Amino acid sequence: MSHILITGANGQLGQALASCFSSAGQLTCWTRPRYDITDPAIADAVAEAAPDFVINAAAWTNVDGAEEAPQFAFNVNSLGPKYLAEGCARCGGTLVQISTNEVFDGKAGHFYHEYEQTSPGSVYARSKAAGERAASSTLPRLYIVRVAWLYGAGSNNFAAKISAAADRHGALRVVSDEFGNPTYAPDVAAAVAKLIETQRYGIYHLINDGWASRYHWAVELMRLSGREALPIQPISADEWPRPTTPPPHAVLVNNAGAALGITLRDWRDALHDYVQTESER
Ligand SMILES: NC(=O)c1ccc[n+]([C@@H]2O[C@H](COP(=O)([O-])OP(=O)(O)OC[C@H]3O[C@@H](n4cnc5c(N)ncnc54)[C@H](OP(=O)(O)O)[C@@H]3O)[C@@H](O)[C@H]2O)c1
Repeated sequence: MSHILITGANGQLGQALASCFSSAGQLTCWTRPRYDITDPAIADAVAEAAPDFVINAAAWTNVDGAEEAPQFAFNVNSLGPKYLAEGCARCGGTLVQISTNEVFDGKAGHFYHEYEQTSPGSVYARSKAAGERAASSTLPRLYIVRVAWLYGAGSNNFAAKISAAADRHGALRVVSDEFGNPTYAPDVAAAVAKLIETQRYGIYHLINDGWASRYHWAVELMRLSGREALPIQPISADEWPRPTTPPPHAVLVNNAGAALGITLRDWRDALHDYVQTESER
């Protein structure tokens, strides 16, 4: 039975991972401030804990905020994975580095496969791409798991914000020209659990099957939560100004995982589960 160590265990993916691995041989959950992955000593702590797997779910995830604080974003998203990889190298552990569809700028006009060159556009995206490079140049036993448009129960994600806005305003305006893969955190956790059994290291796109615009995601969420009559106006990204321009079409394809038999269900089925779980909370 394996010893699993999860960093960022209080985040939305961290919580899903902790729940998924609750019956692992040994589960260690690290959270801030005690375990800060920007502290170089985190490498010593990993080496001492000597887990079989470190799953790094810790990250600077404030995409817009990263523009104002690039050094902090790079410290967490680039140096952190490097220190964790160093710790793994010293104890013989394997690292699972969680990354993002935003390592692609979304302008290629096609879906993105695992083998493609990254083209990060924002500070956040560059810091995550640098984290992939830093970890993979330090450790051969490494899985890079890119996810996209992540959401999970009880977290402040797009689905939760759309639900709250619908309740507050009784109508929605949602961007219809930004596309991605809505991806349910518990499904990623289950897929990671399968992946780490394979010893086939490398880059993976573990996203729920299918893709959508933000608008279609919101429409489906309203339908599944019994609010299909709520007016939803599609708008362009230009009408929703942000400090960063999100990738317009950074839709991922899961090829490498599928080749190992690791696929995630259709995003609408996962969203249905999310709505059920939220309604029972
Ligand atoms: N959310 C998305 O839509 C999305 C999309 C694509 C990829 N991803 C990637 O998926 C992964 C998980 O994202 P998430 O949505 O679960 O993020 P999240 O909910 O924001 O959780 C991130 C966690 O990292 C922790 N953290 C931040 N800085 C840290 C540090 N210096 N040391 C230790 N822990 C630190 C945070 O701690 P506190 O609880 O103390 O703040 C938080 O618990 C990340 O790698 C992210 O880049 C996310």
